[in-house]
Amino acid sequence: MIKYLGSKRTLVPVIGAVASALPVRSAVDLFAGTTRVGQELRRRGLAVVSNDVTAFSEAFGQAYIAAGAEVDRSRLRRLLAGLAALPPLDGYVTETFCRASRYLRPENGMRIDAVRAGIDRLDLDPVERGLLLTSLVEAADRVDSTCGVQMAYLKRWAARASNPLELREPEPIAGPSGTVTCADANDLAGALHGADLAYVDPPYNQHSYLGNYHVWETLVRGDEPEHYGVACKRADCRTRKSAYNSRRGASAALADLLGRLTTPWVVVSLSDEGFHDPAAVEEGLRGRGHVGVLHVDFKRYVGAQIGIHNPAGERVGRVSHLRNTEWILVCGPDRRAVAAAIGSAPPPAVPRARTGSPRSRATGTTAASRPAGAASAIRGTARA
Ligand SMILES: C[S@@+](CC[C@H](N)C(=O)[O-])C[C@H]1O[C@@H](n2cnc3c(N)ncnc32)[C@H](O)[C@@H]1O
Repeated sequence: MIKYLGSKRTLVPVIGAVASALPVRSAVDLFAGTTRVGQELRRRGLAVVSNDVTAFSEAFGQAYIAAGAEVDRSRLRRLLAGLAALPPLDGYVTETFCRASRYLRPENGMRIDAVRAGIDRLDLDPVERGLLLTSLVEAADRVDSTCGVQMAYLKRWAARASNPLELREPEPIAGPSGTVTCADANDLAGALHGADLAYVDPPYNQHSYLGNYHVWETLVRGDEPEHYGVACKRADCRTRKSAYNSRRGASAALADLLGRLTTPWVVVSLSDEGFHDPAAVEEGLRGRGHVGVLHVDFKRYVGAQIGIHNPAGERVGRVSHLRNTEWILVCGPDRRAVAAAIGSAPPPAVPRARTGSPRSRATGTTAASRPAGAASAIRGTARA
């Protein structure tokens, strides 16, 4: 499972159940990231458009949302085996991410350089190219030496960094093939004619996903960019800014996006510790339809659990809180369907203890009946 902050990994079953209870056949995942939500919507039979501004998410989209029965999986396995057998190459990745910084061990950096150059020599359609690039990014993620983001590297190599890079075939996803775009969500929002549902999961703080995952962007683009700082970030991290990473601009960007959306149904995910005020967004959504809300409590990310440390490794400052609440807002034209969607939400899957687990809470009301056990993990309300 690839490491990605803000990924809806544990919320996927909840969002999938909510979407399944709505009268929708197609969905646009406007901030797709890992594409995990889009994959779940696809498995549930929806035609999905997967969108994100990053090239790595576009590759994941080709692999998991667009790839369908037409993919020749035996050819794909042959291509992966051929790439894995290439002799090591001491190139940009080895120099930049193994010597100038310590994201990977050099022996794996050289294998990545060889595989990346090998992909460019192959005659591939966009889906095959996305599948191979996804395999490479996932392989790199399994042997990296980071705490999960590519902002700084561990002083000592992580144990997993010594494992040999292994290219695996991205799993086929059941359900209809979808499409992939790489656009600013606000530009796309007004052009979603024919789509039934928009899923909106915007960035929630000042940390840019492009900056946090710049190594993947460089692996996928293969453009060997100028870089800066100890993490050797791509130079364009300074210029490719998202309005959602600015405290001043985020709320206006989200309000603008929701105002432009032409889909009848909207599902929004928001954390109560980000730039957005979920209650204000709920209020705004009332202007476009009936609104239902689910609350899910989470342990915060591992950094908050460990505490804040200075470069000498001494604990400094205080972590303000260890839990946060994720809001899932459902909005659409049919009050009964909203209530049914809220009532259909199952408890989120319980993650491994290391990454945190949702806390049980048995409060709140819902306008629809709820399957046994669901109220223990989620509070839900459906308001007209
Ligand atoms: C909270 S993450 C989404 C996580 C995703 N739902 C998942 O489960 O992996 C937000 C995503 O929005 C993308 N993003 C940031 N600004 C954007 C914009 N203006 N338009 C489209 N995508 C954007 C980021 O690259 C990031 O992948």
